[in-house]
Amino acid sequence: MSETPTNTKKLFIRTYGCQMNVYDSERMAEAMGGEGYEEVDSPDQADMILLNTCHIREKAAEKVYSELGRFKDLKAAKPDLKIGVAGCVAQAEGQEIMRRQPMVDLVVGPQTYHRLPDMVAKVEAGEKPVDTDFPLEDKFEKLKNRPTATRAPAAFLTVQEGCDKFCAFCVVPYTRGAEVSRPVDRILREARELVARGVKEITLLGQNVNAYHGEGPGGTWSLAKLIWALDEIDGLERIRFTTSHPNDMEDDLIEAHGTCKKLMPYLHLPVQSGSDKILKRMNRSHTAEQYLRLIERIRAARPDILISGDFIVGFPEETDADFEDTMSLIRAVGYGQAFSFKYSTRPGTPAAERPLVDEAVSSDRLQRLQALINDQAREVMESMVGREVGVLFEKPGRMPGQMVGKSDYLHAVHVTAEGIAPGDLRRVRITEAGPNSLAGELV
Ligand code: SAH
Ligand code: SF4
Ligand code: F3S
Repeated sequence: MSETPTNTKKLFIRTYGCQMNVYDSERMAEAMGGEGYEEVDSPDQADMILLNTCHIREKAAEKVYSELGRFKDLKAAKPDLKIGVAGCVAQAEGQEIMRRQPMVDLVVGPQTYHRLPDMVAKVEAGEKPVDTDFPLEDKFEKLKNRPTATRAPAAFLTVQEGCDKFCAFCVVPYTRGAEVSRPVDRILREARELVARGVKEITLLGQNVNAYHGEGPGGTWSLAKLIWALDEIDGLERIRFTTSHPNDMEDDLIEAHGTCKKLMPYLHLPVQSGSDKILKRMNRSHTAEQYLRLIERIRAARPDILISGDFIVGFPEETDADFEDTMSLIRAVGYGQAFSFKYSTRPGTPAAERPLVDEAVSSDRLQRLQALINDQAREVMESMVGREVGVLFEKPGRMPGQMVGKSDYLHAVHVTAEGIAPGDLRRVRITEAGPNSLAGELV
């Protein structure tokens, strides 16, 4: 007989934004698991709905309100359905969310979700709690988790949170707060727990992950030192980290890319623009040339590394010449992947005061930039054909007998073969490059 407790309640979480929100959503699900909530994948059956939100661009933030609008009927049909807003919009807008959407029962920022169970108790008592503190205690230590039974072979692990860089366009220093690094022993403990549950690959997360400076045996540890400690964990096969800032790429980290076998040949290193004038106005604190020299040093340590980036087009007062500088930088680097965005004005950031670039001009630039990046990404994918790469298999593909996994370079790879299970790490020879993925055969 199965022993499903009759008082099990259902929790639906929708996650927007970056990988850190994905990680946070898992932690919130685990925290609510301790309160008898079980995660479901549709809002229709839920007793509680949580939106874990992103404030990075206007569109991302506004999506929350249209999404909430869609829950109106559900709430009308089930008045004790609890609706919570978490994440960066919660942090930025707080009480304002309830003014715009009175059906919201609770608002919780990214630094206080360990208090979620108490907040839910308050909702049950008829209150509408809002908690956007930056508390002194470590939320990860306060969480009373009930680990979910199954785990994908690849997992995220937050090691650093917040940002002190204050790029002129960005809300993250306000929504996530000041830079904080978790202590080494807790990270290693969490990593070992993940590996014990079948995880083979860990991506270390931080808004500025390479600024990591956590307390460990003997003093303050760098990210490279932490990576070397993770390298010693038996059963952990792959290590990645994201997102890095160019100014925090220390020598020991560059060196690790050449010498640490478990550290994968992929680096997300956003530059945003190739114009020194714009970089300065963005408060990025480095030039295009410095970025290019850095890429050279990284490639000297690990020649086959795949470089990925982020770009903003149409930053206030970006001229055609500034944009062409960005295109030149992209040509000089040769990206394997990149994310690009039209500048979005964020209230309260310094750039919000500056004159905007015409919308049509920004759209045109974005299109041209994306076309160039797509060509480069395609070229990198085609260069994989004939090569042998490691693939960590994650799940069955759409075709019968097919499995899908990620290569060392983070490309999706399809293989049709007998006897591959999720979590297997196998050598694969790439035979074909499609538009979004590669195909290969077991070696
Ligand atoms: N910490 C990371 C990125 C955080 S946000 C870093 O420093 O690189 C992810 C990306 O969103 C940024 O790299 C930037 O390209 C984009 N972004 C941030 N604010 C933006 C804004 N106001 N408008 C458009 N894109 C933005
Ligand atoms: Fe935002 Fe800049 Fe900090 Fe990245 S480094 S999170 S872009 S302020
Ligand atoms: Fe968005 Fe917050 Fe991440 S604003 S990108 S969810 S840190």
